[in-house]
Amino acid sequence: MAFGATHLSLALSLMALIVLAKADFNEKVEPINNIMEQNSEMLTQEFCILGAVGSVVAEAIRRERRMGASLIRLFFHDCFVDGCDAGILLNDIPGRFQGEKSSPPNDNSVRGYEVIDQAKQRIKTTCPGAAVSCADILALAARDSVAMLGGIPYPVRLGRRDARTANFTGALTQLPAPFDDLNVQLTKFRAKGMSAREMVALAGAHTVGFARCVTMCDDRNINPARKSTLNCGCPVSNNNTNLAPLDLTTPQFFDKFYFEDLIKNRGLLFSDQVLMGSSATADVVRTYNSNPVLFLREFNAAMTKMGDLPPSRGAQLEIRDVCSRVNGNSIADM
Ligand SMILES: *[C@@H]1O[C@H](CO)[C@@H](O)[C@H](O)[C@H]1NC(C)=O
Ligand SMILES: *[C@@H]1O[C@H](CO)[C@@H](O)[C@H](O)[C@H]1NC(C)=O
Repeated sequence: MAFGATHLSLALSLMALIVLAKADFNEKVEPINNIMEQNSEMLTQEFCILGAVGSVVAEAIRRERRMGASLIRLFFHDCFVDGCDAGILLNDIPGRFQGEKSSPPNDNSVRGYEVIDQAKQRIKTTCPGAAVSCADILALAARDSVAMLGGIPYPVRLGRRDARTANFTGALTQLPAPFDDLNVQLTKFRAKGMSAREMVALAGAHTVGFARCVTMCDDRNINPARKSTLNCGCPVSNNNTNLAPLDLTTPQFFDKFYFEDLIKNRGLLFSDQVLMGSSATADVVRTYNSNPVLFLREFNAAMTKMGDLPPSRGAQLEIRDVCSRVNGNSIADM
C-alpha cells in the first residue's frame, strides 16, 4: 500500500516503454522482450530496495519512535546543504577532512546514521547487484518515517548520487537555526527555491520529534512561553539526555497539531513561534490547522521538491559503497 504510487508510476513508464518499443522496432518481437525483461528486472530491483529500506525503518521506529522524526530531519539537513547528496553522512578524517557531520548544526544533534547504514547493508544482502545511492536511501527513509508516523505515503523518485565531499561551512550557513527570525528563515528557504508556504509546510515536520534540553536551555532558541513546560532543569550539561517535545499535544504522530500549538503560542523553538509573526506565514499556519489533509499533501509536495535539490554544480558524484566514506581508500583520490 505504502508504495503504491511509486509502483503505479513505474508500471506506467514500463507500459510507455513497451509502446515506444513497438513503434520503434516495428513488430520485431526480440527487442521488445529484451526491454520488457530489463524493465521487469528494474522493477523487481526497485521493489526489493523499497522493501529493504522500509523494513529497516519500521524496525528502527518500533525500537524508538523518535527515530522517525530523526530520519526526517537527517534528510532535511542533507538536502539543505548543497543538495541531496548524502554529504551529511561522510565522517570527518582528522587532520584531513572536516565535513557536515561535525558542523555545529549537526554535531551531537543529528541522529539516525546507523539506520541508514543498516538499510545500505540490508539492500546489499537482500537485493544483490542493486546500485542505490546513500542519498536515495535518505530520501526513502524520510518518506517511510512520515508514512509510519501517521502521514500520507508519497512516491520517491530514485537516481540521486552521493557527493565525494561535504561542506562544513555550508551546514553552518545554509541550514535554518532555532534562533533564526522569520526573515532569516525566509531567506534561507528562498535560497533553496522554497516559498513561504512551502517553508511553513516543511516546518510542519516539527509535529514529531524532540529537542535536546541543552539546546532549549539557551534562551535564544526557545519560545519564552514554553519555558515553563520544559522540565529540563536548566542549565544542563552538554551530555544531558533530557528532551522537550516540539509538538506539546501529539509529539509521536505526524498530524496538524504543531500548527495548533503555534496558534496557541505553544511552539517550542523560537524559529517555530515566529511563523505567527507575519500574516504571510500565520495565514498558512491557520489554513493547515483547519485543513489537516491539505497540510499532509502540501508537506509531501514540499518534501518531494526538496528531495530534488541538486548537488553543487561541478560536484564529483558516485554511488557510495559505505555511506560514511567516499569510495576508494583515500580522500586524496578526489
Ligand atoms: C559550501 O557552502 C558555502 C556556504 O554556503 C557555499 O558558498 C559554497 O558554495 C559551498 N561549496 C560547495 C562546493 O558547494
Ligand atoms: C556528563 O559529563 C560529565 C563530565 O564529562 C561526567 O562527569 C558525567 O558523568 C556525564 N554524565 C552523563 C549522564 O553521561
